[in-house]
Amino acid sequence: MNEEQRKAGSLDVIAQRNKKEKDYSQYFETVYQPPSLKEAKKRGKEDVQYNRDFQIDERFKEMGKGRTFFIKTFGCQMNAHDTEVMAGIFEALGYTLAEDILKADVILLNTCAIRENAENKVFSEIGNLKHLKRDRPDCLIGVCGCMSQEESVVNKILKSYQNVDMIFGTHNIHKLPEILEEAYMSKAMVIDVWSKEGDVIENLPKVRDDYFKAWVNIMYGCDKFCTYCIVPFTRGKERSRRPQDIIDEVRDLARQGYQEITLLGQNVNSYGKDLKDIEYDLGDLFEDISKIDIPRVRFTTSHPWDFTDHMIDVIAKGGNIVPHIHLPVQSGNDAVLKIMGRKYTRESYLDLVNRIKTAIPDVALTTDIIVGYPNETEEQFQETLSLYDEVEFEHAYTYLYSQRDGTPAARMKDNVEKEVKKDRLQRLNQKVGYYSERALKGYEGQVVTVLCEGSSKKDNEVLAGYTDKNKLVNFRGPKEVIGKLVDVKIDEAKQYSLNGTFLHVHEPSAVKA
Ligand code: 5AD
Ligand code: SF4
Repeated sequence: MNEEQRKAGSLDVIAQRNKKEKDYSQYFETVYQPPSLKEAKKRGKEDVQYNRDFQIDERFKEMGKGRTFFIKTFGCQMNAHDTEVMAGIFEALGYTLAEDILKADVILLNTCAIRENAENKVFSEIGNLKHLKRDRPDCLIGVCGCMSQEESVVNKILKSYQNVDMIFGTHNIHKLPEILEEAYMSKAMVIDVWSKEGDVIENLPKVRDDYFKAWVNIMYGCDKFCTYCIVPFTRGKERSRRPQDIIDEVRDLARQGYQEITLLGQNVNSYGKDLKDIEYDLGDLFEDISKIDIPRVRFTTSHPWDFTDHMIDVIAKGGNIVPHIHLPVQSGNDAVLKIMGRKYTRESYLDLVNRIKTAIPDVALTTDIIVGYPNETEEQFQETLSLYDEVEFEHAYTYLYSQRDGTPAARMKDNVEKEVKKDRLQRLNQKVGYYSERALKGYEGQVVTVLCEGSSKKDNEVLAGYTDKNKLVNFRGPKEVIGKLVDVKIDEAKQYSLNGTFLHVHEPSAVKA
């Protein structure tokens, strides 16, 4: 994709902020185009370009001198990692991290659009920052991430949140220096949202949150278009990073002593499908990464449709790819799955689960479920409950269906009362709780390996970390083990976590090249 094509969906627009000076709705009619979900839906045939020459222009290098920044992150791991990249760009510009949001010179809200309540949280946060802008008019407030890609959100901010100085989206975070420059120079709101995805930019600076675990993007975007989901619109088409770029990044993390990485994508099982010149899929990537000396490799999120036997085989070998598979099912009923556009049936999902359990007997399976899809009947919901019993998931993230403007499901009429949906969610959550507790109980008396992440949230004297199957373990031990893999004997299962006794630092069984 060339610069012109990339800019096709871009709006390098400056919006007039001061309502009193101008009727800005008229003003925007001529110069302002909102980001377009319709444009974002289009899947062009252009090849993805890989830009490895990212550099911060010399003219920006002093921009952050004496200034601080703060990024508040909402939503998924992809956003958490984008925040690390934006923090890297801020530091390359000379900014330092503010100790708290209210003291920062630049505040970014990295937003999530997946459900309405996620968006409401962001709007209330922007509202909270209104007084800050009154007290310190020089501070800059920016909104970025998935919500910025929605025209309704941009319009609402323009109308009601004039304390916002800049809005930019998910496709142009590498343009942060230019966006900041424009915001400093102009008294108007800067809006720069690209409706269409751009190139894959390598070598962006990053400030990682941890020194022992790291996110590694393997692909961007999603082409699945599940009918309820806004992600294919806000994150654009599927674009895989080149295998070598990923492998180099993971090798570098291993060299720095990282203990755990998480391979990230909206739909990691599609990895490689868009790499036209090579035959290389997630199974191949797993194989290559399992040769690197990094103890734990997680991956998220999987789509059941693309889960191949090759991928299962590599995990079954018992290397560093963890035997924890998060496999969103969304519903246990075929008719609901069909209108969700999930492209698998209850039977094919259960078949996949059987293949996984046969090849990896100690696998931990977790899932996502949406309750109260438009017109979902009690019988259909019962099938979700019975599927849960059949699979015996160790945990699930459960959600009430939330209508997202622009998605096909938003046009469906819905005959299910909110109270009925809430009741179903509660019943499902009881089941989730039962199986989660049962899975935790099974650990009592066992020795598990835990990546110690720091002090527990509740008690500074207690350490906490996660097992390879993502079970939270609390234990007392020396603070020097933070960032290390340790063996812990489990004494007691609680409702959401395990309590144990520290034994020793974990001894790796084999050293890799
Ligand atoms: N309403 C409710 N839940 C949703 N999810 C995605 N879109 C919606 C929506 N519109 C859930 C799905 C997905 C998870 C990340 O969020 O379960 O797997
Ligand atoms: Fe959304 Fe996941 Fe479906 Fe993609 S695969 S549309 S991200 S739910």
